[in-house]
Amino acid sequence: MEISNFRGGFKIKSVKAREILDCRGEPTLQVEVTTEDGTVGRADVPAGRSTGKYEALDLRDGGSRYGGRGVLKAARNVNESIQPALKGVDVTRQREIDSLLIKLDGTENKSRLGANAIVGVSLAVARAAANIFKIPLYRYIGGPNSHIMPVPLLNYVNGGRLAATELDFQEHIIIPVGFKTFSEAMRASVEVYHELGKILVGKYGRHSLNVADEGGYTPPGMNDPREAFDTELEAVENLGYGGKYVLGLDAAASHLYDEKTERYRLMSREYSREELIDYYVDLASTYPIQSIEDPLHEDDFEGFAELTKRLNIQIVGDDLFVTNMARLRRGISVGAGNALLLKVNQVGTLSEAFDAAETAFRNRYGVQVSERSGQTEDTWLADLAVALNAGQIKTGAPCRSERTAQYNRLLIIEEELGSQAFYPGVNFRQPFL
Ligand code: PGA
Ligand code: ZN
Repeated sequence: MEISNFRGGFKIKSVKAREILDCRGEPTLQVEVTTEDGTVGRADVPAGRSTGKYEALDLRDGGSRYGGRGVLKAARNVNESIQPALKGVDVTRQREIDSLLIKLDGTENKSRLGANAIVGVSLAVARAAANIFKIPLYRYIGGPNSHIMPVPLLNYVNGGRLAATELDFQEHIIIPVGFKTFSEAMRASVEVYHELGKILVGKYGRHSLNVADEGGYTPPGMNDPREAFDTELEAVENLGYGGKYVLGLDAAASHLYDEKTERYRLMSREYSREELIDYYVDLASTYPIQSIEDPLHEDDFEGFAELTKRLNIQIVGDDLFVTNMARLRRGISVGAGNALLLKVNQVGTLSEAFDAAETAFRNRYGVQVSERSGQTEDTWLADLAVALNAGQIKTGAPCRSERTAQYNRLLIIEEELGSQAFYPGVNFRQPFL
């Protein structure tokens, strides 16, 4: 690389968006940033289905094309509004570019240009810059100290909005904490996945092997989270990995909550906030649960704080925080949760996601880098988890390519880091403590 070239800046020549498909067969955006020297950076935009009401806006076309889910408007916003604004700007000025995008949109929730348009550009800019320096994305984003491999939170039995099962909670997760490296943790966890498949076929029939949006199994007739955890632990025990795993749960409770009655619906019963909190406390006393995401609905900061006080485990805010600094700060001030779920497209730019992560770390909150249920084969997520030294990633079960793509990318990164790669195991929430 020529230093003089760097001083002169790496000017953006073009920003282009196209409509591609995500893993659910829904349209999504792909953005391509090209600099004057011909370097290209490309990024795909993921999409949620179990979304929080405070997320930045995912702009869709409406109408009949793709059932209204098209993203041609968002693509046009990239090509016609964003491209002229970014032409000639130095691609390494990530923060400046992100501020420019925020200003250009001018709305609170990025509804004019669409958060999908904005996030695609923000990520493609980072990719182009990394490609210019010929360094991996995690190294460009994170710098020389990025070396912590994330502990995967593996979502093996699915319910809620992301699966056709009777289970009300969305994700019944196993967490491989008793391993020395990421690759060993993955190998064992893939064995557990297949063992679990056999157990579920025996107990719930062969339709159990159908997989949900994030690759977890969908056992017919299973409706109690305890059954999910029992079978997961059985698979772990059968393979002799007892003690090497703890459990996690994403309740996605906003979707179980009825605002009118102020009650949650779980296993055909109504629960008040207090009853649901007691339910979690009881569940965590009988199972080795170490992480619960969205245990209560997205406006219940108080309830989150109460549960965080009562359970000495990780309590993660997804729909609660929506990767938004203001909401995270509010949570921190009242002790709601102790970890942030980081989804870049919930907020819209890489810089805002960094700010949220930094705020979390400096307030002793954990950061769990997360997929969306709609992903593509793009692997920036894996790079981001290592870049941030986050210590944990949630990216589904290892059986759908958009999920294994992330794990495969992490295997490459671990190899590149060599002896410097560190797998935090039980310290996934606070890898530096
Ligand atoms: P989403 O759900 O990507 O569909 O929003 C995932 C989650 O709730 O964690
Ligand atoms: Zn969630």
